[in-house]
Amino acid sequence: MPQRSSFFITTPIFYVNDAPHIGHAYTEVAADVLARWHRQAGDDTWFLTGTDEHGQKILRTATANGAHPKEWADRLVESEWKPLLDLIDISNDDFIRTTDERHERGVANFLQDLYDAGHIYAGEFEALYCVGCEEFKPKSEIVDGEGAFEGQKVCAIHSKPLELLQEKNYFFKMSAFAERLLKLYEERPDFIQPASARNEVIAFVQQGLDDLSISRTSFDWGIPIPWDDAHVTYVWFDALLNYATAIGYGTDTEQFARRWPATHIVGKDILRFHAVIWPAMLMAAGVEVPHQVFAHGWLLVGGEKMSKSKLTGIAPNEITDTFGSDAFRYYFMRAVSFGQDGSFSWEDLAARYQAELANGFGNLASRLLAMNAKYFDGRVPEESSIADTEAESAIRDLVATVAERADERIEALAIHEAIAAIWELVDALNGYITEQQPWVLAKDPEQRDRLGTVLYTVTEGLRALAELLSPVIPEATAKLWAALGAEATLGALDQQPLRESGTWGRLVSGTEQQPLAVLFPRIDSESVGS
Ligand code: ME8
Ligand code: MG
Repeated sequence: MPQRSSFFITTPIFYVNDAPHIGHAYTEVAADVLARWHRQAGDDTWFLTGTDEHGQKILRTATANGAHPKEWADRLVESEWKPLLDLIDISNDDFIRTTDERHERGVANFLQDLYDAGHIYAGEFEALYCVGCEEFKPKSEIVDGEGAFEGQKVCAIHSKPLELLQEKNYFFKMSAFAERLLKLYEERPDFIQPASARNEVIAFVQQGLDDLSISRTSFDWGIPIPWDDAHVTYVWFDALLNYATAIGYGTDTEQFARRWPATHIVGKDILRFHAVIWPAMLMAAGVEVPHQVFAHGWLLVGGEKMSKSKLTGIAPNEITDTFGSDAFRYYFMRAVSFGQDGSFSWEDLAARYQAELANGFGNLASRLLAMNAKYFDGRVPEESSIADTEAESAIRDLVATVAERADERIEALAIHEAIAAIWELVDALNGYITEQQPWVLAKDPEQRDRLGTVLYTVTEGLRALAELLSPVIPEATAKLWAALGAEATLGALDQQPLRESGTWGRLVSGTEQQPLAVLFPRIDSESVGS
């Protein structure tokens, strides 16, 4: 048996200062599609997500709401963040919270190791801090305030005043890693994706790196520095380590060796933390750097990044309540080029739902099953070699090439291109039915073989579509799979070897099929959000 390759995928761990919006859901879906694809292809897959619960941002929000930060975090995790995962069918294998004991222990060990190895020193520091970013801002992200903030320095991302912090801190000697990082980016051009993100990081590091302040003394909501408990660990140093502590860094060597290194999916807002600080931390600890860091773009509202702090967030259930989870997943994966910004619009969502999911895919499936029911007694029809023409061989070839191209595009993390490739088959099958007119063939008993061949061809095409689309729209494809009668002969959909979905003829003629409920019902335009 071939060696199963290992695929460890992560999302950022999200701040629990507020409830999730569709930007967070977007990251979750992208990582989930990749995880489901690899899992179904038989790769040794592990999908990690979770929450970031320490630091000043959470402390302030909790305090403003009259809660202890841990109490606040528990409430948000249970009532908002975990329910999001169910709402949009996220198949994560683990959920880490930075307040988990396993994480706190791992962070303390990591810090102690770095300290013992001489990578950490004590110093004084004075700089402008953004609590929204939880970061001392680099010059390039400090701008002059406007309006109410005239005369003050504000964060370029949050447009809110920066705070001048003056503290005795511990520092990580990050400056020592600039050369090694640049060498990494050069030797492994795929390490940071897409190319625009990579160029930005290279330009940043080429200016030279400062040492990183990694502790705070002015508040205590964090993980204590093991050798000096007057300090707590800087929230980003703490948070980045989740990717290692969750898979047993320092506690379960076997599990860590099996999973690491990771493919990190992050928004471009936090690319620098993942592509500069995180690999430098790992280098200092003598651990292999991540496999890849992919920075996706932002969902925009009115041309600006959708955000909690600017109150432009749309709650995911505003979309799923009307369109369902599959449509949510499909829309964002298909309509936004993965790696670029995308503007969300209700009109675009409603239009794609109707044209692509309801008319393109859903109708194809229900028409085919209705014809099999009517002409073949509800069974998978039989293909006949004497009735085979070029039109069928074109479909068979397309199934094979689409399956191969989709897998190759997923490997390159171009999710939107993988779906576009698969959709060529949806369109081709619709065109094929229109041309072959099975309802006309059905009227002529002499064309019985031809009718079977045509309907078998579409049935097999749908079998391949169910397999290829199941990572994207798991609910609809599971219904289709059952209706096709595939379950009985081939087993559960998520057990199908995805990389063999292009192999023709897997459905067995004569297998009984089931009626199919409408996959994507018509949506009354009155119920669409504005
Ligand atoms: O930064 N469009 O957490 P966070 C697309 N805790 N994605 C968006 C988005 C938008 N408009 N808004 C948010 C943190 N996101 C840290 C991470 S990781 C070790 C620590 C998504 O709650 C996107 O993935 O601010 C972005 O990177 C992330 O939410 C930021 O989440
Ligand atoms: Mg943020």
